[in-house]
Amino acid sequence: MNAAAGCQASTPSPYDLFAQGAFTRKDETDDREFYARDRFVQHLDSVALSTVEKLVGELINEENPVILDLMAGWDSHIPSTLKPGKVVGLGLNENELSGNRALGEFVVHDLNVDPRLPFADNTFDAVVNTVSVDYMTRPFEIFGEVGRILKPGGLFLVIFSNRMFPGKATRVWQEASEQERVVIVEQFFKYSDAFESPSFFTSKGRPRPKDDKYAHLGIPSDPIYAVYADKKGAPAGKKPRPDVCVYSGQECSDEELERRKKAVKDTLLCPYCGEKMKKWTVPVSPFSTWDLEYAYLCFNDQCGYLLRGWESMSKQGNRGYSYRLMYDPLRDYCMPLPVPTLNALKEGIVEDE
Ligand SMILES: C[S@@+](CC[C@H](N)C(=O)[O-])C[C@H]1O[C@@H](n2cnc3c(N)ncnc32)[C@H](O)[C@@H]1O
Repeated sequence: MNAAAGCQASTPSPYDLFAQGAFTRKDETDDREFYARDRFVQHLDSVALSTVEKLVGELINEENPVILDLMAGWDSHIPSTLKPGKVVGLGLNENELSGNRALGEFVVHDLNVDPRLPFADNTFDAVVNTVSVDYMTRPFEIFGEVGRILKPGGLFLVIFSNRMFPGKATRVWQEASEQERVVIVEQFFKYSDAFESPSFFTSKGRPRPKDDKYAHLGIPSDPIYAVYADKKGAPAGKKPRPDVCVYSGQECSDEELERRKKAVKDTLLCPYCGEKMKKWTVPVSPFSTWDLEYAYLCFNDQCGYLLRGWESMSKQGNRGYSYRLMYDPLRDYCMPLPVPTLNALKEGIVEDE
């Protein structure tokens, strides 16, 4: 090596942000072989699937959009309210793709072998990737390619949960927590340099459908995370995307909510879900300035206030947190108490109250 070459800085790569081997898998056999077996199954429970459909239906707000389902199977999760001009699927299993009734066309293409997308520049209004980003071994190239084939201002919507084929998911995905995965996908968007800053969506802790095969285990519905962004350069006057929230509406009118809040001191019912709040011991800590011994908290894991809180906290920069409603009996006042998990704070419940 000559001296000049020795001083030359190598081109920085976004892969340098990750540990070596981050995008390797336990099963490095040909993806086409792994996906050759037909899997006409749903990868999520029905509550989670309805959230996916709602996201797709609400975020894609173009008229008769041309959509690419990237890493498609037999179901593209397009709600009946959305009227696409065309849906194109790209995936690995031909039988699943040809059985997918939403698709007008499909292509069998291995993205990990060739991350270039076989489509012209500025073709699609939206690209949707559902429960599959964890299998991308060359995500930065793929996200860059999505940026190329989207029309300016077009949407890239990446939706994922916590289920996966472990052998085929990348090491970095397997080792990350659910919240870290949101940050990983955010990095894919950021370093492809084609998109506006991404937005985030979380739906976690909703009740599992009663007829689901895992319902008896008491586990909540599969969580849904979405990271999405528009391609830079949207034409002036383009319709903005809506603020998505699965629990969009309050359970009651503003007036009714105010009435219920005023009544809490007598009813001890959560104004949001109507469930009895639980007496809760306020923790003693040298750092705490709380002057009350007990408060009342809503511990209903399905309360809309808690369920909406994951998304609302994420928007405020507190990703991974929600809040429960607390009633302070000294001040006759309701306030949010942040929680990182559904089990947090439960140790303070005073039983039989
Ligand atoms: C868990 S399934 C999800 C299918 C579909 N998106 C859904 O929501 O039901 C993963 C999908 O990723 C696709 N896939 C996996 N590896 C791929 C690769 N290397 N190139 C292209 N598609 C791939 C498979 O064909 C499979 O349909």
